[in-house]
Amino acid sequence: MAAPVPIAEVKGTARENRTAAHSHIKGLGLTSDGRAVPSGAGGFIGQAAAREACGLVVDLVKAKKMSGRAVLLAGGPATGKTALALAVSQELGTKVPFCPIVGSEIYSAEVKKTEALMENFRRAIGLRVKETKEVYEGEVTELTPEEAENPLGGYGRTISHLLITLKSAKGTKKLRLDPSIYEAIQKERVRLGDVVYIEANTGAVKRVGRSDAYATEFDLEAEEYVPIPKGDVHKKKEIVQDVTLHDLDVANARPQGGQDIMSMMGQLMKPKKTEITEKLRLEINKVVSKYIDQGIADLVPGVLFIDEVHMLDLETFTFLNRALESSLSPLVILASNRGLTHIRGGESLPLAAHGIPPDLLARLLIVPTHPYQQVEISKIIGARAKTEGLNVDSAALDYVTELGVKVSLRYALQLLAPASVLAKVSGREGGKITLDDVKECEGLFLDAKTSAQNMGTANGFIA
Ligand SMILES: Nc1ncnc2c1ncn2[C@@H]1O[C@H](COP(=O)(O)OP(=O)(O)OP(=O)(O)O)[C@@H](O)[C@H]1O
Ligand SMILES: [Mg+2]
Repeated sequence: MAAPVPIAEVKGTARENRTAAHSHIKGLGLTSDGRAVPSGAGGFIGQAAAREACGLVVDLVKAKKMSGRAVLLAGGPATGKTALALAVSQELGTKVPFCPIVGSEIYSAEVKKTEALMENFRRAIGLRVKETKEVYEGEVTELTPEEAENPLGGYGRTISHLLITLKSAKGTKKLRLDPSIYEAIQKERVRLGDVVYIEANTGAVKRVGRSDAYATEFDLEAEEYVPIPKGDVHKKKEIVQDVTLHDLDVANARPQGGQDIMSMMGQLMKPKKTEITEKLRLEINKVVSKYIDQGIADLVPGVLFIDEVHMLDLETFTFLNRALESSLSPLVILASNRGLTHIRGGESLPLAAHGIPPDLLARLLIVPTHPYQQVEISKIIGARAKTEGLNVDSAALDYVTELGVKVSLRYALQLLAPASVLAKVSGREGGKITLDDVKECEGLFLDAKTSAQNMGTANGFIA
């Protein structure tokens, strides 16, 4: 018997979210007239002016008035720049693409750096495609594959066609389908009683959910129940799909389908980034703008967040300048915790603010973030402990806050997790973190400054 052919799951090209440190942030926490709610709303504490400025940016984006410009969040370490960028994207809506990268991510031996940046630009631009398609939709009441002798004379039997009956509110229809659709149906795990639709011209099958006639089967289920579709089984239906321009690039760059070995290899290997050419992108842009003109698709510009922007170099900055002016541009948010520094690749030039060339700097709306006061630090640590599910007693909280003021907020936040481990090990009731745990952790882990000082003095590693 032939080995089963692995069916490669089609994965979206979305990135994993790498911002677990900000899971307590749920938005900018502004009132309807754009004022910052002082404490805790949306998980954001303090930093009121920056939050209000970001709220204005969100309004500008919604009014489509940000083109050619970008935002720079400038401020010291752990003043909430990354958290702000995340909150802006949350305020723009749930289906809005958010693509966070770090400046140094674009350097790779395989791909040109401008190419890597372009790819991320296109990850951050969404397209909502509305298509009216001819579909068959209804609850599956019959699903019988019809078998036939294998025409090649082998032992196995093949499926010659598939009989499926769909029921809608207005009637039922029996369809005789091609065996290839049977595969699609198996992949979607369709069974009797499910509501599905089948696209008439492509044969694509989509499982909508389970018919609500079956809703009382069990009490507790992770199933989504949907009503029996209205109207006829065979009808025209508007289907909405969200994709990013990068998804379109990838989908069109790789040869798809086909049974030959090469195309199977192509699917098993990682998609090669270099296959997407400028020409292909231009073609896709043309099709996209045609769709937009025809009203089939809407552009959903998202957010491209470039952290540590001083890691970009002169070439990429010029590219960025141009890309901001294109009609297809997402909201670009840059962040930097550097003051005056050299522009990478331009060490002979004078120092530049935040390591950004002045011509780009002139296009930026600069939002400063400020260091926190003691009260705010204590609240942020409290909020963080709550989302992490940690139980901190008040003496310990005070001490961690003190460290936040004396050393840095990041160091203070960093100590929470190891302290909770110590608390659990000591078997205290409820794993409550006490002052001793925090002090022990403080002894175990150095903060950045102390560590650097140790190196600089006689007991440094390199003599
Ligand atoms: N105003 C705030 N309210 C709640 N949490 C905050 C606030 N500011 C910062 N935090 C939290 O503090 C931590 C550090 O903040 P963040 O990573 O955003 O700093 P940053 O400005 O990006 O620092 P860096 O320059 O080092 O990248 C994060 O866990 C963040 O969610
Ligand atoms: Mg950051």
